[in-house]
Amino acid sequence: MKYQLGEYNTEVIETILDQVVKQVPTNSFWVIDNKVASLYPIFNNLPDTKLLVNAEETNKNLKMAEEIFNWLKYNKVNRQSTIVAVGGGITTDLTGWVASNYMRGCNLMHIPTTLIGMIDAAIGGKTAINFNQTKNLVGSFYPAGKVFIIPGVLQTLQEKEIQAGLAELLKMALLPESRILKLLIELKSEWKTEFHTLINMSIEQKMLICQRDLRDTGERRSLNLGHTFAHVIESASNYQIEHGRAVAIGIIKAARLSYELKLIARERYDFIIKLIRSHYPANYLQLEMWIINAISNKGKEFYENDKKSKLILFSGENDIAVFDTIEWNKFKNIIIEVS
Ligand code: GLY
Repeated sequence: MKYQLGEYNTEVIETILDQVVKQVPTNSFWVIDNKVASLYPIFNNLPDTKLLVNAEETNKNLKMAEEIFNWLKYNKVNRQSTIVAVGGGITTDLTGWVASNYMRGCNLMHIPTTLIGMIDAAIGGKTAINFNQTKNLVGSFYPAGKVFIIPGVLQTLQEKEIQAGLAELLKMALLPESRILKLLIELKSEWKTEFHTLINMSIEQKMLICQRDLRDTGERRSLNLGHTFAHVIESASNYQIEHGRAVAIGIIKAARLSYELKLIARERYDFIIKLIRSHYPANYLQLEMWIINAISNKGKEFYENDKKSKLILFSGENDIAVFDTIEWNKFKNIIIEVS
């Protein structure tokens, strides 16, 4: 499918592992998560130049970006060159940011290899690095020209990576007019039987939102549902709690706050909580004492630093509200309460 995102054309192409390298221009420059390269020899035996990166959230920073800039310069990459990112959201966010800046922008392609990458990070053109203890503080809007979706690679994902991606899928389902919700309700715990359909629906839903609002000034803000809570949890845990788990918890907290602010009725609150709980083991959604302590001690700073200072909450029967920041103590009580 082809989409127009602002001034950028972006195409989502479903393919298989054996074919993907042939669909990328020769002499491209590949930035590959080293875990992916070790799982799939095809990425280790490329005819092109490649750089393996250690894709940890704590490495999604200026230092790693500098290493990539140096590698591009050393290899005489120019504006006509294509940079290909292979990996999850950390790799595509970081490589996308580098590609958007190197010589003011090179061709960019993404090959997301995680569920969260396929349905969220590699879709819609947001790039970012973490800076000064703030997640995604430095970034750009720079959609990849092509995003290759290879459903086959999901087979090697660990359960915790599927769980993390599922959180973004559930978020999409809870947005107004999503077709995903109906299907998830029908499927109940059998949602994996329609994995493929759900991924395609989610990509399309996100792309259509980004087509209407690439730069996150209106409708796209809805994609940050639960994310202010998630970013405080992730940052206070020094990224030991991964993004997907933090988003799943963040959606519950957003529902709780929406209910307390009387933005939603009890029925909708119960429905959201039941939907999220029915897809996860109880302890996945429960913050451990060490992280509750970390949030109490240093969460305020992260909360105030978070650039998404507007809260995205639930509203009415099927809507989303963009809500001004609430005071830290209220936010903290919601985030640390046992729910
Ligand atoms: N992940 C949120 C967005 O792409 O806007």
